[in-house]
Amino acid sequence: MAFQLVKGTRDFYPEQMAFQNWIFDAWRRVSIRNGFVEFDGPVLEYLDLYRAKSGDEIVSQLFSLTDRGGRELALRPEITPTLARMVNAKINSLPRPVKWFSIPRVWRAENPQKGRLRELFQWNIDIIGGPDALSDAECVFTAVDLLAEVGLTSAEVQVRYSSRRLLAEVLRLFGVAPEAGKAVLGALDKRGKIPPAAFDELFALALPDAAVRAGVGRFLNFTGIDSATDGAIAAEVGVAFSDECRAALADIRQFQAALKSFGIDAWCRYDTNIVRGLAYYTGIVYEIFDSAGEMRAVAGGGRYDNLLEVLGGPKVGATGFGMGDVVLGILLTEKGKAPNLSAKLDCFVLTEAEALAPAVLSLVGQLRRANIITDFSAKTQNIGKGLKDANRRNARFAAIVKDGGVALKDLRTGEQADIPAGELIAELKRRLGSTGL
Ligand code: HAM
Repeated sequence: MAFQLVKGTRDFYPEQMAFQNWIFDAWRRVSIRNGFVEFDGPVLEYLDLYRAKSGDEIVSQLFSLTDRGGRELALRPEITPTLARMVNAKINSLPRPVKWFSIPRVWRAENPQKGRLRELFQWNIDIIGGPDALSDAECVFTAVDLLAEVGLTSAEVQVRYSSRRLLAEVLRLFGVAPEAGKAVLGALDKRGKIPPAAFDELFALALPDAAVRAGVGRFLNFTGIDSATDGAIAAEVGVAFSDECRAALADIRQFQAALKSFGIDAWCRYDTNIVRGLAYYTGIVYEIFDSAGEMRAVAGGGRYDNLLEVLGGPKVGATGFGMGDVVLGILLTEKGKAPNLSAKLDCFVLTEAEALAPAVLSLVGQLRRANIITDFSAKTQNIGKGLKDANRRNARFAAIVKDGGVALKDLRTGEQADIPAGELIAELKRRLGSTGL
């Protein structure tokens, strides 16, 4: 019986692993140059950690288990609650702001489909205890820095943001109770994924009063938040603004000004439909989509000012995002931006003479110790066949061991020269140094 891959998981054969590592390298490089340091936590956490604040949707997607002592555990579906738990435990000794990144493997019991798996890697960038709007913008800058690093442009991907704080206050001003407000967020989070009629139905269910629905609808359809004055927005929406509304708007404007100063405003746009599925967000929220809007978000995040406190710590503001490897990989492949990562050798060693097999091993040992990427043919064979093997392995040079020396063949130019064995390393280093691989 042949065993199948568990639904929604992946094997990483060397070719896929090379691509995966290329993505991880870019994630790490960009994190470090933006001033973040790496952390990780356990894969298993107590189920209650997610029940506290992640929200019903993610709890329904948990892989959970009970250990022999009857404790309810979960395979982490995200790392943000772990981050909050870890920061809480050392809050007094950590220099602030805490700027941490991580690349956890996370699990979600989803129905697998394109861009949606059960096991994935997720790059996380978070700032805890930093200045509000500026830290939000710094996280977005780091996300955009990564997108540009892997070759994507502002025409291909867009950061869409809004403010949960503003929406929550507008809902409150319209007299919407917190439970109904949650239902509005739920409907909005599904908006792009379901037919318009299905959204209208959910929206009407959440807001049965037609006048309230029309008012909230006017707010959601108003796109000029960036440029309009508070008074003009209030008049358009048909509600008298509170201090909290003005504070939330000021926060958005500060965020927008920072995006501009960072030079990434062309990558970002305000979009009231962005609310995020997770329950802990409290302020600016955003998702990053391909411009064609064909796939689920490549990244999502925002401000979560209550999570540390809810998990038993102090009230410290926090903000960050997660970017999945699955959607990023599809995006890069579909846009033709995935690099050619076939494995390469500096040198492939071979010989025709059986008696020289020990000399081949000796040379291979020396080359490898000299940090020259080397492999060899274990059997003696005719040179033509050996060179074919060398080409198949993407070798830059072939070293043909002969009686009394080595013939070094440049596999790019076909040029070949006899070299004393003792000079091979220096010669290879010289040539590799000048041409590269
Ligand atoms: P999230 O929106 O649940 O946020 O996930 C972030 C990204 O992870 C998504 O945009 C998507 O690319 C990827 N992702 C999530 N689930 C799947 C899946 N089943 N298959 C493929 N990709 C997936 C969070 O997890 C937050 N904890 C992010 C965060 C960090 N917020 C603040 N800090």
